[in-house]
Amino acid sequence: MDRNLALNLARVTEAAALASAKYLGRGDKNAADQAAVDAMRRMFDTINIDGIVVIGEGELDEAPMLYIGEEIGKATGESLKVDIAVDPLDGTISVAKGLPNAISVVAIAPRGCLLHAPDTYMKKIAVGPKARGFVDINASVEENIRNVAKALDKDVSEITVNILDRPRHDKLVEEVRKVGARIKMFSDGDVLAAISTCFDYTGVDILMGIGGAPEGVIAAAALKCMEGEFQGVLCPATEEQKERCLNMGADLNKVLTMEDLVKGNEIIFAATGVSYGELLQGVKYLEYNKASTHSLVMRAETGTIRFIEAIHRLDKKPEYAK
Ligand code: FBP
Repeated sequence: MDRNLALNLARVTEAAALASAKYLGRGDKNAADQAAVDAMRRMFDTINIDGIVVIGEGELDEAPMLYIGEEIGKATGESLKVDIAVDPLDGTISVAKGLPNAISVVAIAPRGCLLHAPDTYMKKIAVGPKARGFVDINASVEENIRNVAKALDKDVSEITVNILDRPRHDKLVEEVRKVGARIKMFSDGDVLAAISTCFDYTGVDILMGIGGAPEGVIAAAALKCMEGEFQGVLCPATEEQKERCLNMGADLNKVLTMEDLVKGNEIIFAATGVSYGELLQGVKYLEYNKASTHSLVMRAETGTIRFIEAIHRLDKKPEYAK
């Protein structure tokens, strides 16, 4: 995969972040999301790839842009055929409420390498590279925490588990507390929460809980770049979701490994902070019509992890200033 695509993907997430950050705290999650989608779609049109959206905004009847199956990119006969997973805004409610850790995110891989995950929930466990091989999504919460503690040479009381703050996680929270580990709750955005397990300074060791399956594929792509580990099991919440999974031929009992979710290692991942956060700063609007962005760009082939800080001249990029 052409390594220069990485910078182009950063441009894609930067554009979406710049467009949606305008809506921080304005109480309108749909407008924030739409701005991100429009900007991301426009930027993709400038990139020389023959892409198909496999994780996107929904089916064609629910999403006019970046829908699943949409062909995107400025394809020529020679262009690379790729699968694309997008979440123009992971954390729509966070942006609407002015809360942290909303990001714009994209992952690409050669055609056929990203799982077409149904729009349903997924039980997830994720750890950073030092704890890779020490977790099993089917094992008990206690076993996983104790094994990760061993891998990291920490006491169980020093292990921190990232958990999405939802009533469905009450039992999980209780179990983690019983084991004696620490919990860091977050209100939305479990892609970034999974990525956090790979960076010591976040203080997070494990992500556990149930979130969106599409976000699971994107998180797995990111963790592959950092040699962390992600496992998922689809868990539809309603009969309708269950039917959607079965219609797509999904096995509801299967543990989806990194390789099931994202095949091979020709993966490029990019994310840009929208609202402020621990790992990525949010968009800041600066004096004289400028704005700054903070992005994370990674390639699994080389394992390079880049943080890119950019200053944008909005007067020279009027489409961002809309
Ligand atoms: P959106 O911003 O697309 O709504 O997703 C935010 C998110 O927190 C995801 O990161 C997570 O996987 C999912 O929602 C969890 O779903 P729910 O809000 O239904 O618990």
